[in-house]
Amino acid sequence: MTTFTRRNFIQKVAAITGSGYTAMVALDMIPAAPAKPLSLQGQAGKKVIILGAGMAGLASAYQLTKLGYDCTILEARGRAGGRVWTIRPGAKETELNGALQTCRFDEGQFYNAGAMRIPHHHTSVIQYCRELGVPMENFPNTNEGAYYYSEGKGPYSNKRIRQREIHNDIRGYTSEMLAKVMDQSSLDTPLTKEDKEKIIEYLMAEGALDKSKLYKGSPRRGFDVPPGAYSQAGKPAPLPSLVDLLQSGFYDPYFYNIPEYTYEQQNTMLMVSGGTDKLTEAFTKQLGKKITYNAEVTKIYKTENGAKVSYKDTTKGSVHEITGDFCICTIPLPVLSSIEHNFSSNISRAIDLIPHNSACKIGLQFKRRFWEEDDNIFGGISRTNMDITQIVYPSTGYFSKKGVVIGYYNYGSTAERIGNLSLADREKLALEQGSKIHPQYKTEFESSFSVAWQKVRYSQAGWAMYPQDVRDKYYPALQQAEGNIYFAGDHTSYLTAWIAGAFEAAHQTVKSIHERVQKS
Ligand code: FAD
Ligand code: PHE
Repeated sequence: MTTFTRRNFIQKVAAITGSGYTAMVALDMIPAAPAKPLSLQGQAGKKVIILGAGMAGLASAYQLTKLGYDCTILEARGRAGGRVWTIRPGAKETELNGALQTCRFDEGQFYNAGAMRIPHHHTSVIQYCRELGVPMENFPNTNEGAYYYSEGKGPYSNKRIRQREIHNDIRGYTSEMLAKVMDQSSLDTPLTKEDKEKIIEYLMAEGALDKSKLYKGSPRRGFDVPPGAYSQAGKPAPLPSLVDLLQSGFYDPYFYNIPEYTYEQQNTMLMVSGGTDKLTEAFTKQLGKKITYNAEVTKIYKTENGAKVSYKDTTKGSVHEITGDFCICTIPLPVLSSIEHNFSSNISRAIDLIPHNSACKIGLQFKRRFWEEDDNIFGGISRTNMDITQIVYPSTGYFSKKGVVIGYYNYGSTAERIGNLSLADREKLALEQGSKIHPQYKTEFESSFSVAWQKVRYSQAGWAMYPQDVRDKYYPALQQAEGNIYFAGDHTSYLTAWIAGAFEAAHQTVKSIHERVQKS
């Protein structure tokens, strides 16, 4: 049973009203990560307690250690990484309502339940991979050969269609309409006749229009039977009309071609080779015994000269207290909200009231890579207006026998709903809806592991959401130190839901502490 708290209420309202975040992403309102590695000078022997061994905590400890600080990281889980979590065989999770899962994938199979892709301009992430020797490779975020599946009423709904068909048809019809508008002499624009002709020429190229400026399809949209030898000229798939496309739902937001345009999802996207947890491993190798695992922080107190933190050893049940000159708290706000503290009211309000998004993924192991063998899909994402929202194909291990597909990845109210299903029902939903796109699901499925981030004890959400009013009202408090306690995490950045946000926030915090120490 979900307990009713102020935070739950706010999350529900945010889920119903929709995420301002997605809109901001769509409108390119989220700015870039700065492009410099951190480079600070000077040595300082102060003691810093870092709460949480996610990307923000690990980067903070790594940088502070380089500067000579004595760091202790308290991490509640038995592993580091936080929302960087690669699900591998044997992974275990007990959700907040008690549902227990153990991953039964075959050895070598995995999927990233949290972070999976890195924009090419998130230089802080790329810099750490360089510095720590973590290989990266391409992440095929878009794949014209993957499918769209619109469940609805139009003639082209309830069947899978290659994205290249829909993309080029929409481009074609839209260009045709604009070319017609440009042809009108009454058009109220400052353009000359030559300007208009240039635009029409461009639109004809953009939309692959014929000589009469009409869209009648083109080879860009692919073929039902591909071109081959001798008489096999290639047979195009039937061309939907503009009305067919509209009625079949392809002008609905699910299918906007936004990932290709938004700043954060443009080509090239990268990924950490072999699972994002390789980045975590590189940090933990550097930090070793500085991390205390299974240490659940229960109290955080600012003191006159520093901080006092209590934590429970979750394996033994024993309670401990430590003190430090400084403390960096990277605990996600929904978790921090129920931890005892003596913070001032504006910080406490920010912790309690910043809304968070739910996020869900499920990994499905199949005994055959039918999406590659039968459908020529090598990485990328199929999209649908069904609850599963997206199917993400593995972008490694091509031609191997088995593979793990992300059977759904969704956020907001859909994720909230899916997270409330039992583990068995989540699997059932992923298989039922996914098999409409890939009928092979039914015979090839082996095992699943699902993560509903809002149900994960030490996360309790996918990520913080900052519609402008929340950014204005609550965000500033988190940028200030509470005595000698600092707050860091992707939630203290303009890059929420990105590893780069956690790194940038860590760097900002390290700089602030170091400046203070240097001045004192
Ligand atoms: P966290 O990773 O949440 O770390 C906080 C740490 O605090 C955790 O280790 C936690 O166990 C610990 N903790 C919690 N409570 C306590 C306690 N009481 N005591 C001690 N420790 C505690 N980013 C990308 O760049 N690319 C992506 O493709 C991407 N996809 C994502 C997909 C999903 C579904 C999700 C959920 C996130 C995704 N992100 C992605 C975002 C990225 O994972 C996060 O922004 C980043 O990992 C946050 O790091 P953090 O250190 O701020 O927080
Ligand atoms: N960074 C996360 C991801 O890449 C969440 C996100 C999704 C952010 C879509 C922006 C847009 O999946």
